[in-house]
Amino acid sequence: MVYNLAIIGFGTVGQGLARILVNKKDLLERNNNFKFKVVAISDIIKGTVIDQNGLNLAKFLQDVQKEGKISGIKKSDFSSVEIIENSAVNIVVETTWTNLETGEPGLTHIKKALALGKHVVTTNKGPIALAYNELSKIAKVHNAFLGFEGTVLSGTPAINLALRNLAGASVKTIRGILNSTTNYILTQMETGTTYRNALKRAQTLGYAEADPKMDVEAYDAAAKTTILANVVMNGNIKVTDVIRKGITDITVHDIRTANLKRKKIKLIAKVWRENGRIQGQVSPKALSSTDILANINGTLNALTYSTDLLNDVTVIGRGAGGIEAGYALLSDMLALNQKLIKNF
Ligand code: HSE
Repeated sequence: MVYNLAIIGFGTVGQGLARILVNKKDLLERNNNFKFKVVAISDIIKGTVIDQNGLNLAKFLQDVQKEGKISGIKKSDFSSVEIIENSAVNIVVETTWTNLETGEPGLTHIKKALALGKHVVTTNKGPIALAYNELSKIAKVHNAFLGFEGTVLSGTPAINLALRNLAGASVKTIRGILNSTTNYILTQMETGTTYRNALKRAQTLGYAEADPKMDVEAYDAAAKTTILANVVMNGNIKVTDVIRKGITDITVHDIRTANLKRKKIKLIAKVWRENGRIQGQVSPKALSSTDILANINGTLNALTYSTDLLNDVTVIGRGAGGIEAGYALLSDMLALNQKLIKNF
């Protein structure tokens, strides 16, 4: 089977996936029996192109990187929703920006695709944090696959690790560092860099959200905490239920004082069950240097699942970046492919 992909949103993440697909096309076909064509790309700023025979991704990436827009190809007037409706498309890659209030435009894209029985892979935190339970029901009814590995820890296994590899073990609590921008800022501040300069660097390096308030005031980490709570621990919480405090009040002095006591300040996310209810929290904590999370620096993220059968399982890896997020989308598509192959 050849998958026909439509990439909706062609920013850092969409381009990261495209780069991987260009570089690994033959290998994916040979080793993973994964054959694909990208039949449409739609981006609100760069424009929309369709080619049922498959776009020349390498040339397309070059153009976008040189000119910041789609050039040299006949553009299409179709809207993103019309692209999703196109009968040739069978996997929708949803990589538009995250909106934690409405989930749009991603929420509409994902609902539309799933209702048409099309598989969806996404890194978009908004729709999953706001409407996971509803979206997974639509997916089930229409026999469609919904992959969202990249919403937490980017390409580092987090969601599928819990759902597939840890299936059968009960996750009792979750604890982790879920935001790269703030971890980078806190690490930089340890060497005396000011908060403002560290944030600027994180933005230049492409880790920060379009609105960095999402990172530093911990909305992004709260969204990821919500996803973990609802998906891994069967909760039913909203992003606004997560007790949230960001890092904007933390000073270099606070960090130095903590370091003198052999402690590290980290933005820690937690999910736990209390009186039968799932709870979430994100806030800065001074951790003892023996705590595994105290030693996660820079843009690295980490997540510990405390389970009944294996005790603690910790995964550490990159939590942001175009290639990393692109890999998350690829890993979801390969999981879908394995599932479909097995069904034959
Ligand atoms: N702004 C996010 C972060 C990107 O810094 O972790 C990845 O979700």
